[in-house]
Amino acid sequence: MAILKILNYPDPRLYTVAKPIAAVDSKIHRLIDNMAETMYAAPGVGLAATQVDVHQQLILIDISEDKRNLQVLINPKIITSSGKQDYEEGCLSVPGIYEQVTRAEKITVSALNHDGKPFEFEAEGLLAVCIQHEIDHLLGKVFVEYLSSLKQARIKNKMKKRLRI
Ligand code: NI
Repeated sequence: MAILKILNYPDPRLYTVAKPIAAVDSKIHRLIDNMAETMYAAPGVGLAATQVDVHQQLILIDISEDKRNLQVLINPKIITSSGKQDYEEGCLSVPGIYEQVTRAEKITVSALNHDGKPFEFEAEGLLAVCIQHEIDHLLGKVFVEYLSSLKQARIKNKMKKRLRI
């Protein structure tokens, strides 16, 4: 396994729209292993392939306390969503920035699992927030884009100074 480099906002590669995964093969399994190691090392509760500059529809999530409940979602889609919730979000691509975002409270998601089998499930609360946040990455969207343009400009400046990019 290997720790992958995480792209930092406002890297333009974060705006790439990911393509569906046609076959869940050994290459994808290697990517899953490396992304899992990267996410746990960071540490973070979610990671989208986009963030490691791989533009395929794959996200990993683990919101468990003991970090032993890795959820792998391949080609994830939100089928239904309802309600609203506010949550203070962070992102491994925007280190040190935490801002409130409003998202759906409950969602139904369809995806392929680690073995390429289709499945569907419902999520709410923090899990629903994480899934929506990670699916946004696959669509080329970073959570700060939900904020006012003034706030986004401030965050961009802060990141550029901090990362000297
Ligand atoms: Ni993120």
